[in-house]
Amino acid sequence: MNFLFRAQAFIRFLFKSKGLHRVHSPFVFRMYEDLIRSNDRFYAFEELEEIRAQLLSDQRIIERVGIGAQKKSVPLPLGEIARRTLATKNWCEIYFKLVAHFKLETILEIGTGVGLCTLYLAEAHPGARVVTLEGDPAIAAVARENFEKRKHQNIELVEGLFDETLPDVLKKNPSPQFIIVDGNHTYEATMRYFEWLLPHVNDDTFLIFDDIHWSADMERAWKEIKQHPDVRQTIDFFRVGMVFFRKGQVKQHFILRSSFTGI
Ligand SMILES: C[S@@+](CC[C@H](N)C(=O)[O-])C[C@H]1O[C@@H](n2cnc3c(N)ncnc32)[C@H](O)[C@@H]1O
Repeated sequence: MNFLFRAQAFIRFLFKSKGLHRVHSPFVFRMYEDLIRSNDRFYAFEELEEIRAQLLSDQRIIERVGIGAQKKSVPLPLGEIARRTLATKNWCEIYFKLVAHFKLETILEIGTGVGLCTLYLAEAHPGARVVTLEGDPAIAAVARENFEKRKHQNIELVEGLFDETLPDVLKKNPSPQFIIVDGNHTYEATMRYFEWLLPHVNDDTFLIFDDIHWSADMERAWKEIKQHPDVRQTIDFFRVGMVFFRKGQVKQHFILRSSFTGI
């Protein structure tokens, strides 16, 4: 059911997505051309992808608790969990390039998973500091192992359900510059986190939602987020939606491909 929904959503996306020549915002144009579609490689990429390869082949059985949109707690090999939850290499690299280019220092990741994307964010530049939230203790333990491998001092992993941890995290970190919402993919939760985040955004904030076409519920949330009066520009990359609050800009919604395959 979900697979069929996503396949149809992807076909709709391919028809609607536009080329760069249709982008009239200089900010979006430059970011798209210089960072999102660039083939620049960084030293860290290869080493971090080795961690991805290790995770994907790890056969340890992990007992998940079953939270968020993933209600069932089926024990699974770690490799399978990594395959299902990890952000793609393409997107991890794009996040790295955005954080590095804009020298973003305060990063909030809602949904750590096994922590590979967190590592990309933390290694993008020396000033980057990542607060990352995870509710499943077994998954959080795997993420910690990965942070240990790279000896990071600039990652804070906050364990607990987002509904319980996010308000306090936002009190302590009132203006994150780069925010990724990647967990609990239900309409209600996505809209609730969006509302909680709104008082903490400004003209320079990057707010990113993962899996905006994952289900009809997520597409509904994405549609409402786009319509919010504080939202100025959005970019739908199919896999990921980016939201900007740059006051004085015309409200515009772009649908763009992040790579040749669109994802
Ligand atoms: C898709 S994964 C995150 C992937 C990660 N950002 C990456 O790119 O590799 C989502 C994570 O959010 C966690 N999660 C889902 N709902 C949650 C909730 N309500 N509270 C806390 N954690 C939750 C899940 O346990 C899962 O590990």
